[in-house]
Amino acid sequence: MTRVAVVGVGAVGGVLAAGLLSTGRVEVTACVRSPLGGLRITRPDGSALEASIPEVVDPAEVSTVEWVVLATKAYQTAAASPWLSRLCGEGTRVVVLQNGVEHRERVAPLLGAARVVPAVVEISAESRRRGHIRLFGRPRLTVPEDDDGADFVALCRGSGIDVTSTSDFVTAAWAKLCLNAANGAVTALTMQRMPVFTNPRIAQLGRALVEEARQVATAAGAHLPDDLADQVIARLRAMPPESGSSMLWDRLAGREMEYDARNGAVVRAGARLGVPTPYNETVTALLEAVSAPGNAS
Ligand SMILES: NC(=O)c1ccc[n+]([C@@H]2O[C@H](COP(=O)([O-])OP(=O)(O)OC[C@H]3O[C@@H](n4cnc5c(N)ncnc54)[C@H](OP(=O)(O)O)[C@@H]3O)[C@@H](O)[C@H]2O)c1
Repeated sequence: MTRVAVVGVGAVGGVLAAGLLSTGRVEVTACVRSPLGGLRITRPDGSALEASIPEVVDPAEVSTVEWVVLATKAYQTAAASPWLSRLCGEGTRVVVLQNGVEHRERVAPLLGAARVVPAVVEISAESRRRGHIRLFGRPRLTVPEDDDGADFVALCRGSGIDVTSTSDFVTAAWAKLCLNAANGAVTALTMQRMPVFTNPRIAQLGRALVEEARQVATAAGAHLPDDLADQVIARLRAMPPESGSSMLWDRLAGREMEYDARNGAVVRAGARLGVPTPYNETVTALLEAVSAPGNAS
């Protein structure tokens, strides 16, 4: 049995933990801040998967494993380091299921000799109650096409999660970030769902955020179409009216928002690569201001 520890057993980490357990080949440990009492995943067809996974609440009680799945929000990464330092040894691979393009920069300094496997997450899931996860659509992950990526594809076989590898991970990660540069920031700042993009001026702002991210992505070596911004806004406009974004739900619930791994990452990469990012800088500043203690909605 391959030993896997999941740190961050929320919407995404819960889907991975239950999927890996269901293969029958993997011994899964859930590393949690307080007990969950099991997982219940409700699939899009209404069927449910119940998973009883050993839970550990104290990092002192875990030891080195072959794989760690890190699926906290990006801003929770540093706080998860007591888990990572106990779970990681020389051969450990840490699959980072987080949004953005800075998986290695954020996580590698916390790992010692263990290796980061970055992943693009296309899992649409929510967890309104701890341990209870609603899954929308077929879960997909994309990892780099290298030895670690190939091993992770093999690990997930039969888990119900489609994991593919790509030789152009830079493009895959930036394509997702370009989408995320617009949808989260705009819905969270306006506190409106996706139909907000039918407003022509909001659509224009969304296009500007995506186009800036695309220019940074191109400078970073990604290959994205020139009309990506139009494509993204058309896609957001076509989404069901009840659709929102995790940043919108987080803002409405008074929780911290993951804007720094999205718009903040575009700004940082733009500064490094000499690409101006005034729209992303502006929304980062606004999101930081509305996130400041005492300023929650
Ligand atoms: N959900 C989606 O549809 C989706 C889609 C694409 C990408 N993503 C990305 O996937 C990542 C995870 O998102 P998510 O939606 O799964 O978030 P989430 O539901 O908030 O789950 C995060 C989990 O991390 C746990 N956690 C935080 N700090 C911890 C610590 N120090 N030790 C142990 N556990 C800790 C939280 O536990 P508590 O219960 O104790 O708070 C929570 O269960 C994010 O980067 C997100 O942007 C999500």
